[in-house]
This record gives sequence, structure tokens and C-alpha cells, in this order.
Amino acid sequence: MGYAIAIDGPAGAGKSTIARLAAEKLGLIYIDTGAMYRGVALFFIRNNIDYTDKEQAQKVCEDIDINIIYEDGAQQLILNGENITSHIRNEQIGKAASSVAKHICIREKLVDIQRKLACDNNVIMDGRDIGTKVLPGANIKIYLTASPAVRAKRRYDELIKKGIECDIKDIENDIIARDNEDMNRAVSPLKKADDALLLDTSDMSIDEVVAYINNIYKENTL
Ligand code: DC
Repeated sequence: MGYAIAIDGPAGAGKSTIARLAAEKLGLIYIDTGAMYRGVALFFIRNNIDYTDKEQAQKVCEDIDINIIYEDGAQQLILNGENITSHIRNEQIGKAASSVAKHICIREKLVDIQRKLACDNNVIMDGRDIGTKVLPGANIKIYLTASPAVRAKRRYDELIKKGIECDIKDIENDIIARDNEDMNRAVSPLKKADDALLLDTSDMSIDEVVAYINNIYKENTL
């Protein structure tokens, strides 16, 4: 295995923004595992497959080929040869990803790909089960969280900035529902690894969190 930083936490905790910036600063490859579950969810949606159907999920595993490539340093998700990166960033896909992520066959397939990437590269990988399941031997593990209200406000500001009308209470309710699904599923639920550092970013800026990770990395690699 290469050098690895595992970042886990609930939806909207800022994992991807922070992991991307930290990767740039530390010269690591950023791997967004949520994007892979989102890619599988897109396949279910496009093919009208019931998220809960176990047999269909097995067939999906046989039918899909997921690959990650990098363009100008940015992760691109390739599903059966098509670059679907621009199709997976919306709430519908986020919720669907949380549902399809319950299937053990899908998790096994994606975890294999994730481990292979971590074997060949020095990585910072974010998701829900990186410290507990995908890379239990990671050099640094961080569990990033923030209160549901703070996470909802961040998401709300992002959408408003894009000119998308939304209701902050609806967003908070969606966040709480997704936390529930991710924390209570039978296979690899979202949970802080015993040896992960807990970081509540409710009152921290992005720069402060990145600086914190940078310091831990420096101490760890001295
Ligand atoms: O991080 P994200 O919002 O892009 O992830 C979408 C969903 O995918 C998330 O709600 C649960 C699932 N997921 C997972 O089960 N395991 C991971 N390592 C990453 C994401």
C-alpha cells in the first residue's frame, strides 16, 4: 500500500472540498469514493432498476465497469466507457447512491477498486467506510463532521450561489435522513474508526481544517 489518509464522515461535512485541497497541498491523489456509488446509482436510474432488488444489483455488478481517471488533476468517473462526472452531482443521485450502497455485492466491487487505487498511489480517500473497511491500515484517519444545521446551511449557501431556489429546513431533513440510512445499514455503516481523529468542523473554516490536516501529516511523516 502507498501512503494513505482516510477521511470519513456524514453527507455535507465538507469531506470532498477539504480532501481535494489537502491532496493538492500534500501532493497526494484525491479519491472520491462517493462518486463511485453515485455512478452505480446513475446506472440504476438510467435502466429503471429498483434500488432494493438484490438480484438486479448482482446483475448490475456484472454489467458495469467503473474506472477513475484524472484530467488536469480532477477526478473523472468513467462508467462503461462514458465520462459521467457531470451527471452525478445532484440530490436525487446522492439519495439513490445511499440506497444502492446497501448491497454487499456493490460494496465489494467498489472496495476492490478503491484498494487497488490505494495500492498503486499515495492517496487521500474520502467516503463512509474508508477508515473502518477499505483502508483499515491507513496512516492517518480523520472522521469529519458538523452539526446537521451547519451542514444544511453550507449546502443551502452553495445552491443559492448557483441560483437554485431551496428551503433550508428541507435540506436539513434530507441530511438527517441520509445520515440515518448511512449509519444504520447492515454492511459497512458510517462509523468513526476507533483510531480515527474526530474533527467537528461546525465552527471551523475550510482553511483551518486543511491546515489541521497538514499539521497532522507533517507530524506523521517526520
Ligand atoms: O459522499 P457522497 O455524498 O458523494 O456519497 C453518496 C452516498 O454513497 C452516501 O450517502 C453513501 C454512499 N457511500 C458509501 O456508502 N460509502 C462510501 N465510501 C462513499 C459513499
